[in-house]
Amino acid sequence: MKATYLDPRVGQYVLAHATQPDEVLEALAKETVEATGGDSEMQISPEQGPFLTMLAQIAGARNAVEIGTFTGYSSICIARGLAPGGRLTCFDVSEQWTSIARRHWREAGVADRIDLILGPAAETLAAWTPAEPVDLAFIDADKGGYPVYYDLLMDRLAPGGVILCDNTLRRGTVADPDTTDPVTEAMRAFNDKVMTDPRVTTVLLPLADGLTLIRKN
Ligand SMILES: C[S@@+](CC[C@H](N)C(=O)[O-])C[C@H]1O[C@@H](n2cnc3c(N)ncnc32)[C@H](O)[C@@H]1O
Repeated sequence: MKATYLDPRVGQYVLAHATQPDEVLEALAKETVEATGGDSEMQISPEQGPFLTMLAQIAGARNAVEIGTFTGYSSICIARGLAPGGRLTCFDVSEQWTSIARRHWREAGVADRIDLILGPAAETLAAWTPAEPVDLAFIDADKGGYPVYYDLLMDRLAPGGVILCDNTLRRGTVADPDTTDPVTEAMRAFNDKVMTDPRVTTVLLPLADGLTLIRKN
């Protein structure tokens, strides 16, 4: 989702000065609009793609996790940055949307390094024991589930491992005291939870709809 709280000219400028999506990501974004209509807004914003790839590269990620895969855009970006032999485990509830992801993983040449686990992530993640500690995780599913996913991931995260959470600015509404809808309140509570967690160092980046970067100390 785009940075709707920014001056549109600044938003466009930021978009134009990030590494641009290649033809695989362009085709996926186009198909996502055609197949899902307004739900296509759920896809990460294009400038977040190179950020995810770079972060996986910088972290030397060998065991990455994604909660909320949709049609596959962010998972391709993470998978492209994995260390040699690295794996990405994706969690999502939707067979329909992730079937689009599976096809584009093959197009992108990353299908062999991604595992997909279908079902409500609070249950499937709780039941999942990784072969080695997680070093990079991206949370981008139902906003009310973030605290549960965060706690489950913290238990599975290596020291120095990183969790990224998307939409933490919620179109800027988290900073508006007059906005009290349940999703905004949930996101505020989550942001406070992370910020006061003594186990981590964290920063809320105003990138796209807000991306929180959390490192386990
Ligand atoms: C914002 S979209 C993810 C966008 C994706 N990261 C991308 O870049 O295209 C949210 C996804 O979370 C999934 N989701 C929603 N509730 C979930 C749950 N309880 N457990 C697992 N996945 C869930 C939805 O099916 C949807 O695909």
